[in-house]
Amino acid sequence: MKITAILLAAGQGTRMKSSLPKVLHPIAGKPMIWHALQAIRHATTEKPVVVVGHSAQEVTKYPDVLAQTVLQEPQLGTGHAVMQAEPLLKGITDLVVVCYSDMPLLRGETLGKLVETQKKNKGPISILTVVADDPRGFGRIIRKADGSVESIVEEYVATAEQLQVKELNVGGYCFDANWLWEALHRIPKNPQKGEYYLTDIVELASKAGLPVQATVMDDLEETIGINTRVHLSEVEVAMRRRINQEHMLNGVTMMDPASTYIDVDVKIGRDTVLMPNTYLYGQIEIGEGNRIGPNTIIRDSKIGNRCKVLASVLESALLDDDVDIGPFARLRKGAHLGDHVHMGNFGEVKDSYLAEGVKMGHFSYIGNAQIGANTNIGAGTITCNYDGEKKYATEIGEDVFIGSDTMLVAPLKIGSGARTGAGSVVTKNVAEDTLVVGMPARAIKKMERKAKK
Ligand code: UD1
Ligand code: CA
Repeated sequence: MKITAILLAAGQGTRMKSSLPKVLHPIAGKPMIWHALQAIRHATTEKPVVVVGHSAQEVTKYPDVLAQTVLQEPQLGTGHAVMQAEPLLKGITDLVVVCYSDMPLLRGETLGKLVETQKKNKGPISILTVVADDPRGFGRIIRKADGSVESIVEEYVATAEQLQVKELNVGGYCFDANWLWEALHRIPKNPQKGEYYLTDIVELASKAGLPVQATVMDDLEETIGINTRVHLSEVEVAMRRRINQEHMLNGVTMMDPASTYIDVDVKIGRDTVLMPNTYLYGQIEIGEGNRIGPNTIIRDSKIGNRCKVLASVLESALLDDDVDIGPFARLRKGAHLGDHVHMGNFGEVKDSYLAEGVKMGHFSYIGNAQIGANTNIGAGTITCNYDGEKKYATEIGEDVFIGSDTMLVAPLKIGSGARTGAGSVVTKNVAEDTLVVGMPARAIKKMERKAKK
């Protein structure tokens, strides 16, 4: 059985007061519409159709490969929006799921239940409803004596008696496709607003004696629709709570989930501990047994196992195992720290590989460099990698000792076992096992390398 979703996203979202289209506002790192498409994918078998209208160009760019889009111009209501998808889907799908793009907490499982309800329904429509004390402006569900749904009444036209109804229209529908394509054209124009409301199709079915069934949802949170930035923040908080709970149930410890901010695409291994005020943004993979935070921001990075990251900022960085950084370390794009690397306070690393066991305890800048295993970078060391026009590479061998306050003027190679004196300015390559000092540094002696463990 072919099941296809139509996602309505043509509305303007006026109440967001934003130059960004409503459905592109991010929640836990992904645009609102991404969350809706994710839920849809769970419950349908075909590529969905997104109906776009306001800011169509910007919105169309987003779903790209995830969906096909169709333009609704002008926007004459939710029923009219669904009609725009008819040419794409007629004769192609058996069931049609319709949902709104401003309900990112709606779960795929819930849409799945709706589809199951419709599969068992002899009539042509099933809808999602919820029972709640606060109606939030939702349409009211009017039931028949036999329990099937008779109609959906929008709040502004409801009678005093209808306003008392606690069962609300969530905004999720599953239709028998053949019936839908025909009935859509019979939706009457709403006399007050001049629009065609999808909700009015319910009455068309029930009046014809065709049963409309409802899946009553039990999680009120899932039904939060976003119309204002207040709703946006409510959804953001709920989404993050949901994400955090999932990680905790998978074995991640969070000292204070309320101050731990994790985007949807983050993977974290068990027994990793996240301390308060930790932000994990974008595409991140974190292994097992790490301790991250407090006060740490990580974006698009990969962290191995048993690392410690304290009060630091990482962006597009890679940590192998047992790395220990911070407080106040900054890793920028292309920083790669090997096993057992120690990087203390006020270090900055960019586009560089620090091999196993490198130690860099205090305020240094390492850029465009390769540093060999077990090398020690003294306090205040700087790779002078930029001459105002170009970036140059620094290559440092294994077991090198870079003395405090050394300026490494790139391009530069320092051989394994070499040593620089404090305050050296190194402008020429240094041979293996050689001690250099001064400004600019010159070779003063040849040394014996100590055997290491
Ligand atoms: C709608 C329902 C209401 C339900 C509520 C739940 C209707 C008539 N009413 O009201 O019963 O309780 O959602 O949140 O459907 N859209 C288009 N084209 C249009 C108009 C709207 O694509 O011409 C899209 C919007 O972008 C939005 C969705 O349809 O994603 C819903 O429209 P909106 O105006 O937000 O409907 P509500 O007044 O919230
Ligand atoms: Ca709405």
